[in-house]
Amino acid sequence: MPTPDPDPLRARFPAGAALRWFRAPGRVNLIGDHTDYNEGFCLPATIDREVLVAAAPRDDGRVRAESLELDGVAEVAADGSTDPAAVEPRWGGLLAAIVGELTARGRAVPGADLVVASTVPVGSGLSSSAAFEVAVMSALGALAGDPLPPHDLVFAAQASEHRATGVPSGVLDQMAAVHGRARHALLLDCRTLRTAPVDLPPLDILVVHSGLPRVLAFSEYGARRAACEAAAQRLGVAALRDATMEQVADDPIARHVVSENRRVIEFVDALWRDDLPTLGRLMLESHASLSDDYRVSTPELDLLVGLLVDHGAVGARLTGAGFGGCVVALTAPGDALGVAANALGPYRARSELVPNAFVATTVDGASEVTFDRGDRAS
Ligand code: GLA
Repeated sequence: MPTPDPDPLRARFPAGAALRWFRAPGRVNLIGDHTDYNEGFCLPATIDREVLVAAAPRDDGRVRAESLELDGVAEVAADGSTDPAAVEPRWGGLLAAIVGELTARGRAVPGADLVVASTVPVGSGLSSSAAFEVAVMSALGALAGDPLPPHDLVFAAQASEHRATGVPSGVLDQMAAVHGRARHALLLDCRTLRTAPVDLPPLDILVVHSGLPRVLAFSEYGARRAACEAAAQRLGVAALRDATMEQVADDPIARHVVSENRRVIEFVDALWRDDLPTLGRLMLESHASLSDDYRVSTPELDLLVGLLVDHGAVGARLTGAGFGGCVVALTAPGDALGVAANALGPYRARSELVPNAFVATTVDGASEVTFDRGDRAS
């Protein structure tokens, strides 16, 4: 079920409550991973796996959130004084961080009741937390009558993730959640923050969870980012975006970043030309670079990518941070489920994991939505 059903959310409020509704999607990244924090290029597509928030004001200076999927009710002070690390249940730490970021930016946060539902699989590399941050921040900004402009929303959401998790993630996920476009991928320049929607050819987007939870992602992510910054400093460039292939020939970490940036641009060019063999080759080169040079893949992800391509995918690669989670594949239209059915049997047998596949439809970035005339949209 791609988009959460609003009825169970509505049922948590008193009958007739005037609700406002906000949604934000998860994303796959078609190519361009671990480039965002090097001021490089990415190409995400927002998909029909979304966070939906129903919001109503309350007048006691508390922000209270209930999740339909995760246990417990989180409650934090609207003045930003709640320490994320002190919140139970643990997922409520992100709520405290969101409120803390908004107040730190001089925004008044109103008391609010929020009910949240999500169809973005958690911890799988599809940006479930960015979708949560963007939807909740949009709700709080709207209730305050003071919505954040899109780029401010991106940075506040990213900063709340840093505040809650300590992971120095880039802007890819939040930029996608805010600026994504249906039927398009989003070419993202992480230096200028310019975006360009790129028409997608009629291919299926197949997303396969490897069955391997992301392991090591938190500590290793920070280590890779630090290695990139050290390499840029050594080379005397502002960011690895500015390095040449010659400069990084002997440094696998930096080489991944420089070669991946180049692949993103080539991939966009191949999309324009409907050049499927080039799309496939670039996805496989990207995966190999993430695996061999950047060392964020796992044997299971490598196996899954190989099997998907052996069974007819145009191309496949890990998507997101790596260390487990999801693979994205492109297939001829209508072929995705057949490719998955043929590839996942041998994958299950050889990995002893339980994978899960779905065909993604691209959707627009975050928005306020209404479901009936009783809902109030500004
Ligand atoms: C995670 C981070 C992003 C990005 C990707 C890898 O999703 O949140 O900022 O770095 O990993 O491309």
